[in-house]
Amino acid sequence: MRISSDSSDVLIVGGGIIGLVTAWRSAQQGLRTTLADPEPGGGAAQVAAGMLAAVTELHYGEQTLLGLNVASAARYPAFVAELEEASGQETGFRACGTLSVALDSDDRAHLRELHALQQRSGLESEWLTGRECRRLEPMLAPGVRGGLRVDGDHQVDPRRLASALVTACERAGVVFRRAWAERLSVTGGRATGAVLADGTELAAGQVVLAGGSLSGRLAGVPEAVVPPVRPVKGQVLRLTVPPAYAPFLSRTVRAVVRGAQVYLVPRANGELVVGATTEELGWDTTVTAGGVYELLRDAHELMPGITELPLTETRAGLRPASPDNAPLLGPTALPGLHLATGHHRNGVLLTPVTGEVMAHVLTTGELPELGRPFAPGRFAATASPGAAPASSPDSPDSPEQTAPAPQEQPV
Ligand code: GLY
Repeated sequence: MRISSDSSDVLIVGGGIIGLVTAWRSAQQGLRTTLADPEPGGGAAQVAAGMLAAVTELHYGEQTLLGLNVASAARYPAFVAELEEASGQETGFRACGTLSVALDSDDRAHLRELHALQQRSGLESEWLTGRECRRLEPMLAPGVRGGLRVDGDHQVDPRRLASALVTACERAGVVFRRAWAERLSVTGGRATGAVLADGTELAAGQVVLAGGSLSGRLAGVPEAVVPPVRPVKGQVLRLTVPPAYAPFLSRTVRAVVRGAQVYLVPRANGELVVGATTEELGWDTTVTAGGVYELLRDAHELMPGITELPLTETRAGLRPASPDNAPLLGPTALPGLHLATGHHRNGVLLTPVTGEVMAHVLTTGELPELGRPFAPGRFAATASPGAAPASSPDSPDSPEQTAPAPQEQPV
């Protein structure tokens, strides 16, 4: 084993957007920060559509998570302004709003329920008739039966966000180790760093495990603190709107078709992202004919003109899901080891608030009030009665845990 001569205050394991924002905020606090990942800026952000859908993706039983989602959405404009300034790069943030539409009477009933839940939760959304929806978005199918206009659910381009975060980290002095972290180092009952795939041992005062869906696979993590995170596959398509067709859409449009969600996210540069499947298939990231067919079929029902557009990319990624769909943030029962993972459908949305919460944890040792419901200890077998899950386990959106037990693998 080679011991690196450097030791840092904080070692982040995993360089997706959550690891990156944690590293950036940590370095801004004056902490000497190292991040280990063979490809910083990769991961689920390379696939994600980038909807900031705190209101339109509200689910029953997830009111606690809603508070964090709304807090992060509110931080987005200032966050991207600061990040763009720090990196000199654009993030593709667009304050364009979202329209959720219904294609039949069942969809309309479902959307009415969602509207009522949004209103009870104090969220802003407006019910529109089908005609009003088509007036806003003329490419919508004539059969649209109604919809919800949510002017506060915006979008960002996750690939640009990730790239900007890498640059901001570099400029803030974060040291990148472009290698897999293979094993957590534990000395005297405390996390003290990690061993990389090439055998180099990195020492650190605190370690943050931010490995996305792979977070449960780092060797050396004591069983009691292994994060209960599993992969949930999402297939996503990218199309291009030729200038002659622009503007094809002016805002994000989404619907639930035959029980499956479909969304179309139009970027300012002409990219149109169509997502996403939700599949409990373990570590499989195959793009399947069935996945592409279903997305195109549902998107076509919503917006028939879509079949005219060039299909430029198909890709699948893995959402890091926790048992209650909410993230795991902050200290574990192993001193020195923190988690920043389990963001499931909300990783892009929760990036600003995660950076803030983790910087607070790393400098004070404690979660700020906003982050407390998301402490990893809520899943511990010995959790105190007060440590309830961040959302109800019988939430209709909580899929069964069917993924096979993961093998140990580097993250
Ligand atoms: N938040 C969108 C998705 O997970 O597909």
